[in-house]
Amino acid sequence: MLKKFILSHSIHYENTVLLIDQTVGQIYEREISSLGLEVILIPSGETSKSRRMKAEIEDKLFVLGCSRNSLLVAIGGGVVLDLVGFIAATYMRGIDFISVPTTLLSMVDASIGGKCSINTSEGKNLLGLFYLAKDTLIDVSFLSSLPKLEVLEGVAEMIKHGFLGERSIITMLNNKKKVVSLDPYFMDKLIAKNRKFKRSVVALDEKDRDMRQILNFGHTIGHAVEIASQYEVSHGRSVCFGMLKESLIAQELGFLKREHREQIIRMIDLFDIAIDIDDILEKDHFYEALAMDKKNSSRDKIAIVIPNILKTSHCRVDHIEAKKFKSLITSG
Ligand SMILES: NC(=O)c1ccc[n+]([C@@H]2O[C@H](COP(=O)([O-])OP(=O)(O)OC[C@H]3O[C@@H](n4cnc5c(N)ncnc54)[C@H](O)[C@@H]3O)[C@@H](O)[C@H]2O)c1
Repeated sequence: MLKKFILSHSIHYENTVLLIDQTVGQIYEREISSLGLEVILIPSGETSKSRRMKAEIEDKLFVLGCSRNSLLVAIGGGVVLDLVGFIAATYMRGIDFISVPTTLLSMVDASIGGKCSINTSEGKNLLGLFYLAKDTLIDVSFLSSLPKLEVLEGVAEMIKHGFLGERSIITMLNNKKKVVSLDPYFMDKLIAKNRKFKRSVVALDEKDRDMRQILNFGHTIGHAVEIASQYEVSHGRSVCFGMLKESLIAQELGFLKREHREQIIRMIDLFDIAIDIDDILEKDHFYEALAMDKKNSSRDKIAIVIPNILKTSHCRVDHIEAKKFKSLITSG
């Protein structure tokens, strides 16, 4: 599948460079070397989404003689996809790239919608742009080598999509056995549903100024948890904690029915992604991180997504006064 996908594109270009997550490159070395194309391995992990790594790779592309008629192929999780997308967008004012997401999260999230970002010492995803891959290969066989905890990172985003109004995703997720066993036929269908859902939201607001922001359900609180825990709590678990707390706030404000919130709790419990970190709600550091969120209209108004689990078009972003936010979040 991988070979056919890459070669069907590369024949249209002067040269093709594969930019691969190092771990993935090692696991799938045989398939990759059989392609006979130039390879740049990118060290696994979030620290590769940096200005330094971007410059290092750009220099390697110059040495390889890459021109405007070169093709980049991003193979890996969200880290590699974000970084390579950003490089492709600016190398010689923009060259083509195609993507092969190899984590569940990148199949259902990072490979859709064209956001390409890198981190700085000031925070995550602070430099970036919108740039779409020419094509994306979804090959669920990559999931067979993915560690279980990484699978859960993807499940967390699928739960989010489901409770932003795409009930069929929730119905499928209830079949936990097929999800955790990564049943290929089932996962193909589930991933396709998630991709279709995210694409439908992105289509309403490509530049993330309005409706697309509902995809941040659980993320305002989730990001603050990641920062306050110094990234000890994973993104998926932080987002699940965020979804639980943001839906509590939505219920307290009268926008979400209790029974709907309970459905969210049950689904997060089903996959055992919930964590008991309520003591983080006492930390100043947590509230400082919340106040810095990019979606806030000002430092003393916190933006959260109010979900509507029946209708996507009824989900929205609300801005809540910081003081009120604190009393709502600790009310449950
Ligand atoms: N652009 C977007 O819209 C968007 C959306 C969501 C997340 N993101 C970004 O994506 C990143 C997170 O992505 P991720 O969760 O895919 O993480 P990741 O890219 O860091 O991959 C997670 C880990 O899995 C390993 N791995 C990848 N594929 C594997 C495979 N098939 N088998 C074994 N190991 C494998 C990697 O080496 C890494 O250690 C973050 O930087 C986040 O900001 C971007």
